Amino acid sequence: MPMDVLDIIHARRTVRAFKQDPIDEQTLTEMVDAARVGPSGANLQPLEYVIVTEPALREEVFDCLKWAAYLAPVGTPGPGEHPTAYVVVLTRPEYAPPIGTAYDVGAAVQTILLLAVARGLGGAWIKSVNYPLLKKLLSVPDGLEVDCVVALGKPAETPQRVDLDPGQEGKEVIRYWRDEKGRHFVPKRALARVLHWQRY
Ligand SMILES: Cc1cc2nc3c(=O)[nH]c(=O)nc-3n(C[C@H](O)[C@H](O)[C@H](O)COP(=O)(O)O)c2cc1C
Repeated sequence: MPMDVLDIIHARRTVRAFKQDPIDEQTLTEMVDAARVGPSGANLQPLEYVIVTEPALREEVFDCLKWAAYLAPVGTPGPGEHPTAYVVVLTRPEYAPPIGTAYDVGAAVQTILLLAVARGLGGAWIKSVNYPLLKKLLSVPDGLEVDCVVALGKPAETPQRVDLDPGQEGKEVIRYWRDEKGRHFVPKRALARVLHWQRY
């Protein structure tokens, strides 16, 4: 049975360990097609995408990425658990609105990640990237910049969301962690902490 969009939103967690089943071309194309029609500031549509599935190139992309800064090197996908595809998000500064391209990128990446969940896949939004190296590796021409990478694959882990108590404040409480069995937990600020009705 197809998942409801709300279930998909709540089921999505950043995945950093993947089974090695390949993702078919049609699914990857659908992801970029869905991102393509997303909201865009002034509708300038400054984004382009490079899909990488070729095994040797995939490993070179992998070497450009850093994972789970709070846990490093623990959160890095281990041997045999690397992503099986990447969607590399490019921006064309020539088409950037005055507010920049970050909002468009956010909408596009979330679209890709949610569609991944709907298709039984998982992903990670990676911004910690060796940009000069990746740009060269993928022959990205002048006039375009690499913004971020969406790493994709069939999940080999099921990270869990944990709601913080509304009283728990600060920049430290939000650190994700792993338990002794290697299970990954992601604390989120509680709804009661962030939702305000009518006035603050
Ligand atoms: C803008 C942005 C950049 C991110 N960059 C990285 C990254 O470079 N490496 C990584 O492992 N995760 C990265 N993440 C994933 C976050 O660590 C993850 O979203 C956060 O821990 C919350 O977990 P969740 O996605 O399961 O809710 C990034 C997420 C966002 C939104």
